[in-house]
Amino acid sequence: MSEQAADTAVLVEERSFPPSPEFAAAANGTQDLFDRAGEDRLAFWAEQARRYVKWDKDFEEVLDWSDAPFAKWFVGGKLNACYNAVDRHVEAGIGDRVAFHFVGEPGDHEAVTYADMHVRVQRAANALIDLGLRAGDTVAIYMPNTPDAVAAMLACARIGAPHSVVFGGFSAEALRTRIDDVGAKLVITGDGLYRKGAPYALKPVVDEALASGETTVENVLVVQRTKQEIGWVEGRDHWWHEALEAADPTHEPEAFDSEHPLYILYTSGTTGKPKGILHTTGGYLTQAAFTNHVVHDIHPETDVYWCTADIGWVTGHSYTVYGPMTLGATQVIYEGTPDQPHKGRFWEIVQEHKVTILYTAPTAIRTFMKWGRDIPEQFDLSSLRLLGSVGEPINPEAWIWYRDVIGGGQTPVVDTWWQTETGAIMITPIPGVTAARPGSAQHPIPGVSALVVDDEGRPVERGSAGYLVVTEPWPSMLRGIWGDPQRFKDGYWSRFPGIYFAGDGARLDEDGNIWISGRIDDVMNVSGHRLSTAEVESALVSHAKVAEAAVVAASDEVTGQAICAFVILRQDAVEEADEVGEGAELVAELRNHVAHEIGSIAKPKKIMVVAELPKTRSGKIMRRLLRDVAEHRELGDVTTLADASVMNLISAGIASGK
Ligand code: PRX
Repeated sequence: MSEQAADTAVLVEERSFPPSPEFAAAANGTQDLFDRAGEDRLAFWAEQARRYVKWDKDFEEVLDWSDAPFAKWFVGGKLNACYNAVDRHVEAGIGDRVAFHFVGEPGDHEAVTYADMHVRVQRAANALIDLGLRAGDTVAIYMPNTPDAVAAMLACARIGAPHSVVFGGFSAEALRTRIDDVGAKLVITGDGLYRKGAPYALKPVVDEALASGETTVENVLVVQRTKQEIGWVEGRDHWWHEALEAADPTHEPEAFDSEHPLYILYTSGTTGKPKGILHTTGGYLTQAAFTNHVVHDIHPETDVYWCTADIGWVTGHSYTVYGPMTLGATQVIYEGTPDQPHKGRFWEIVQEHKVTILYTAPTAIRTFMKWGRDIPEQFDLSSLRLLGSVGEPINPEAWIWYRDVIGGGQTPVVDTWWQTETGAIMITPIPGVTAARPGSAQHPIPGVSALVVDDEGRPVERGSAGYLVVTEPWPSMLRGIWGDPQRFKDGYWSRFPGIYFAGDGARLDEDGNIWISGRIDDVMNVSGHRLSTAEVESALVSHAKVAEAAVVAASDEVTGQAICAFVILRQDAVEEADEVGEGAELVAELRNHVAHEIGSIAKPKKIMVVAELPKTRSGKIMRRLLRDVAEHRELGDVTTLADASVMNLISAGIASGK
């Protein structure tokens, strides 16, 4: 057991909340699913694939694992993901069902039906073809969280062009790295979006990203949202609404191989270079729809479901776009932040649209707790019947508050563990079956084999902590890292040969529940957003005044973890800083620099200027000690330091405010 994993293990909570008999009786997920998956895992997944997905050509083999760890699921099958998300519902006669109740931050509303979506994706697919896009070409999407962003993703899927969505908060620099890595031929963006009460420009960021050097991008499609002034490159830039209007209104979806790439989504690993996680079509769609049905318990005829994640993250991909739309669900999609124009905005939306299922992140829940229960108590939340949590460990206190204050003390709460890499939910209570344990994601879903293992890869005893692994391939698993097969093998499959290592520490309690404690590598989780320490460090050292930087994650009551940076200044910057006494200004300058390099989600909460960093004799920075400083703890073992007096210097510098 690593020191770090033991360190971060959460306290065990004993309370248990079984589902009510009424909930269990009507629930989609039943014990029977576990039994069937236990008898024959592959037959179970084949059953789900045929139940949830419409195939143009049925598959011949469930899993081909002969080239492990590169899996092929539902081999020989052909399908179209966009057809599954849209056309099939129109064909089934439910085209007038609302797919999205869009809520813009300034208060504008739009109800978009499946039939409306059908019109939009057909025209958009033809517009992409008119711009020269073909199956296999890649498209970068950098858009506001609106139904048009969903239509853009689905139009790509419709023509077999893998999309790579980049969260609208990432900087030009971060966008460019992703565009280059994926080789995008087209960027779909918006003029801007509304966030934090004001229009926020997107298109200028795209212009900045494309300004330097040769690019693979030939065209830019721009959705009009804020109508702000933007620059325009003739021949390259096109308005989305004009392109759609000019395009042919009908488009026949083409059937693609089950393993055809659906999307690439970048996420942070342990190095400074983000990884392009590749997902393909048949297996991904199967597990996204299956879990959305049995974990979120969506009844598409009656539920109004709201996943608050932005489509820029994997949660938006699987649980706003591909899962719920394959089920034909009605959803809310919200553009903005939870405190605009007031701190009750989420609850106002729940009340107005009679949301029945809410899926959000622990950071948001802890923020609402801080704002006080009197805010949600001003709204009618009685429509809610199920609550979900994702992205970080949820502390039992926040879990209980969520259930009591938001769920009226009645609703099941599902704490769902998964990753960009896993594509869909892997560990969670099944709400009609599992007696929920606040703070624990509990058990793998039917058909998934996850374990907590020790250093040698042996399953730990109950009551012990270790590493979280997945021992069998699963349908929505990543198929690799875009352009880097070796990094895929090394990063996930080599720590325990042949077994998927998730990078998380976990604990198995006496009752067999899994408690995820968080990352045990150099990946941070800030408000449910993944960032690597190396990424932030390299942003900091790219600033002219910084000689060296070390970044650690310190626990934070609201954001789970907060970024804490220690920097050594270059000699000339030290002298300059002394002369003009610009401590606070310098820190602000460095924070803004990180925002410019990566995006504002990566701004360190705290930056401490130090004279030295603690290093081992081999020159490795001892982050463990820096975490002790950042969390105001007594220092751990310093005997492996090359120079033990460094820590005194750091502590003294921090005490004197330097
Ligand atoms: O550390 C785990 C944490 O988030 C990581 C995955 O981050 P990302 O790929 O950005 O995907 C987030 C949305 C699925 C995991 O390695 N994590 C995610 N869900 C949970 C969690 N930690 C504890 N409990 C969870 N429910």
